[in-house]
Amino acid sequence: MGTDFHITTWALAIILMIVAIVLLKKGNNKGFKITHMIVRVLYILIILSGGLLISKEGTLTGEIYGKMILGIIVIGLIEMILVRLGKGKGITAMTVIFIIAFLAVLALGFRLPLGINFLA
Ligand code: HEM
Repeated sequence: MGTDFHITTWALAIILMIVAIVLLKKGNNKGFKITHMIVRVLYILIILSGGLLISKEGTLTGEIYGKMILGIIVIGLIEMILVRLGKGKGITAMTVIFIIAFLAVLALGFRLPLGINFLA
């Protein structure tokens, strides 16, 4: 298995995070809760598929460790955004941090040797 499964899991998580936000804005609380649950299952799949890729790396460089830590931070930010929204709290600051961390993890992922590496 290449990086395709890993890309699928995080892309799906981001899409469903947006779906959850739209559902909540439309007043569909139940839909929001169910979608949030599915996003939580995806966290596990992101970590598993990422772990699988780590096991395929030759030497574990600082960049790879950085990629892993940033990936976990991005997951944490998705969860914080959804939890805060569910509680009716603001998400502006969290969203700014999320976008920066997400772009950083994309840049690192596409630099590293496995799969696509157009930023190397
Ligand atoms: C939402 C969170 C995450 C995003 C957006 C993300 C994004 C990416 C991207 C864009 C790639 C490059 C794929 C390719 O080149 O084809 C990648 C590869 C990788 N990711 Fe993630 N990732 C996330 C979470 C994680 C986590 C939690 C781990 C570790 C447990 C992880 C470990 C890896 C590894 C080891 C690679 C391969 C790096 C290489 O090319 O050598 N990722 N990820």
